[in-house]
Amino acid sequence: MRRFLIAGNWKMNCGPADAAELLEGLKEKKAEVAEEVDVLVCPPFVSLSMSVNYLHDTDIEVGAQNIHFEENGAYTGEVSASMLVEAGCNFVIIGHSERREYFGETDTTVNKKAKKALEHNIVPVVCVGESLDQRKANIHFELVKNQVTAAFEGISDTEALDIVIAYEPIWAIGTGETASPEQAQEMHAHIRSILAELYDQETADGIRILYGGSMKPGNAEELLGQEDVDGGLIGGASLSADSFAEIITIAEKLS
Ligand code: PGA
Repeated sequence: MRRFLIAGNWKMNCGPADAAELLEGLKEKKAEVAEEVDVLVCPPFVSLSMSVNYLHDTDIEVGAQNIHFEENGAYTGEVSASMLVEAGCNFVIIGHSERREYFGETDTTVNKKAKKALEHNIVPVVCVGESLDQRKANIHFELVKNQVTAAFEGISDTEALDIVIAYEPIWAIGTGETASPEQAQEMHAHIRSILAELYDQETADGIRILYGGSMKPGNAEELLGQEDVDGGLIGGASLSADSFAEIITIAEKLS
């Protein structure tokens, strides 16, 4: 049976003080609701260490939102994999569309970053997804195929099993507009078939594919109810302990 992963992407929100408040609420609620669901929060760098400390007596995982692909050196403003390990992170979001759009992230850097994270036993959450123009031009399947293929380049099947993919249609991120359950399922099945081509069906079935883009308590059930949707990467709705916990509860019910 699959195990859902419900992940919160806090983006550039919640310094240590706000993080403490949000985690306090989440800690209480998570303890009540979820046993069958994996839960992850991804605060900004400055709130990582305190989040790890804060959550040490829970099974909520902490992840970063970015990583550099070099070990260390003269890369002003960047954070390395070993630093994330030292801070207690087990996950890292890689190639979010906002990083691709505003910070020059490419399929090549996504691949390098995924490899570096794997080297340090950090689970990469690799984001893929098309823009509205690309969907309208009907090139979304091809685009996502290229993104997935490039991200997994040079990665063995055993390593691939440690990667999580997040399908996030850009037109649904922070817009309140969500992919329909059918659109999500269609793309997730497509991604799974690409993974089966790159590796084999068993490996493809073992890789979790999350949906991201305006997931909230009101639509989580129908999205998570799709066969190939193995969890959610949640932005806006993860900034409230109540709504994030509600989504976790829905995932628990579906487990
Ligand atoms: P959203 O963000 O839930 O606010 O749409 C999702 C994401 O960008 O990961």
